Amino acid sequence: MPTSNEPKMQKWSYSFSWTNQHLTPETLRPLRYEYDELGAQALDRLLAIKTHEAAHNDKNPPSSDIYTLLEQHHTKDKILSEFWDQVHRVPEWVDWQQIERGQRFFYRYALANIIGFALQGFVCENSASTGVVEVLVRTGGFSTRVLWGRLLETFQWLLQVTRSIDAVKPGDATRKSGEGFQSTVRVRLLHSSVRRRVMQLARRRPEYYDVSQFGIPVNTMDSIHSITTFACNPMFLQLPKMGIQPRRDEIEDYLALFRYLAHVIGTPTEYFSTVEKARAVMESCYVHELNMTETSKTVAYNFVRCVESLPPPLAISRGFIEAGSRWLNGHQLCDELGLGRPGWVSYVVFAGQCVLVTVLAWAQRLVPSFDNLMVEFVRSRLYWAVIESNGGLKGGTNFEMKYKPRLGSKTGREDGNAIAGGFGFIEIFFMCWALLAISAVLVVGYIFWRIVT
Ligand code: HEM
Repeated sequence: MPTSNEPKMQKWSYSFSWTNQHLTPETLRPLRYEYDELGAQALDRLLAIKTHEAAHNDKNPPSSDIYTLLEQHHTKDKILSEFWDQVHRVPEWVDWQQIERGQRFFYRYALANIIGFALQGFVCENSASTGVVEVLVRTGGFSTRVLWGRLLETFQWLLQVTRSIDAVKPGDATRKSGEGFQSTVRVRLLHSSVRRRVMQLARRRPEYYDVSQFGIPVNTMDSIHSITTFACNPMFLQLPKMGIQPRRDEIEDYLALFRYLAHVIGTPTEYFSTVEKARAVMESCYVHELNMTETSKTVAYNFVRCVESLPPPLAISRGFIEAGSRWLNGHQLCDELGLGRPGWVSYVVFAGQCVLVTVLAWAQRLVPSFDNLMVEFVRSRLYWAVIESNGGLKGGTNFEMKYKPRLGSKTGREDGNAIAGGFGFIEIFFMCWALLAISAVLVVGYIFWRIVT
């Protein structure tokens, strides 16, 4: 617990007390040069097996799915066995019931979690993570043409690891591994592919990617930071600003889920062993790891252009994105990021969204059966919309590397095809909630005034 003697820290609009659990830049910096070595070795082995099979087995070509390849060959290779055993080993601190409760957290506050992830997690945390964005702009996935697809793929992973408890469990003699577990292993190997490719290019042309400045691509530091962004930012930087204060048990449960996912994805887990530690890591990263660069501005610019160009009914105006980003991240950060200043109506619309998520949160807390209904309804609808539907990923992805880094190729600012002006259906719905809240305040105020006078 912070005490009154501890120094206060402030960055942009976030302030906190610096405790002895926080990490200094001297502790964090060396982690930029560490990475998931076992995952990298396993990928090398899998690629060698794939090349060998493709050359020698015309009738039965190797699977294009890296997880299937791993499943087929892990008993025949020492490194692959080691990798297989590591991901399948369930650490003694894992409590499956707690993880199951953590999965429900995402759906209980789904709307707030999604808006928070997009407007705080992506616009601020992602754009300003110097090492991460330098890798991301080299994979091309930040071009406005493909960004929406990449966001959906990240959501696919999130929905798969929260679909059910069996979905995140590793398999055993009686059962296959869950889809979320498999996807996490695929993403771990995808990260190794990205690192391998960027490092190959950097060795050929050192000016392509500066390892001494940004660290090894997808390094331990950035991975720890990414886990805190998923697990802690909703609790301390996003939901409270929308009117929802997650309960202590909810924070512990959600963190437990991501501590386990960190284990599977090859990120050290000791940083997430308690809420206090994880929060201190999140705050340390916020202070030491976030800096605005030209690349940050490019990523944020493309994000806004991509989201404002979505087709109806998903269409969201630039004003809403800017007002929401400013509401969650503060003006200073958004000015540095080059976001515009929208009119007051956009803030009213965003306030309406906050009213809606707060009313829902209270109703779900007061009526557990309503909470169950909402969690299961949102879980199945989101899974269908993002992974199964034709407007979504049409069955989902296997997380192969789609946007291969190439020398001389870096995503720059791009424009989308924004639907001209006005508010979409979603924003009109939020506006109704804002008007409802204003009317309720006026009615209560009037009744109170009548009673007093
Ligand atoms: C450890 C926590 C992390 C998690 C849970 C995570 C999650 C994911 C997921 C779900 C995907 C697939 C969907 C997509 O393409 O967006 C992905 C891809 C990717 N991640 Fe991560 N990530 C983490 C850390 C990082 C870090 C630290 C970097 C550093 C730059 C990074 C870079 C990438 C890149 C470049 C891709 C896309 C590869 C492509 O173009 O297909 N990730 N990540």
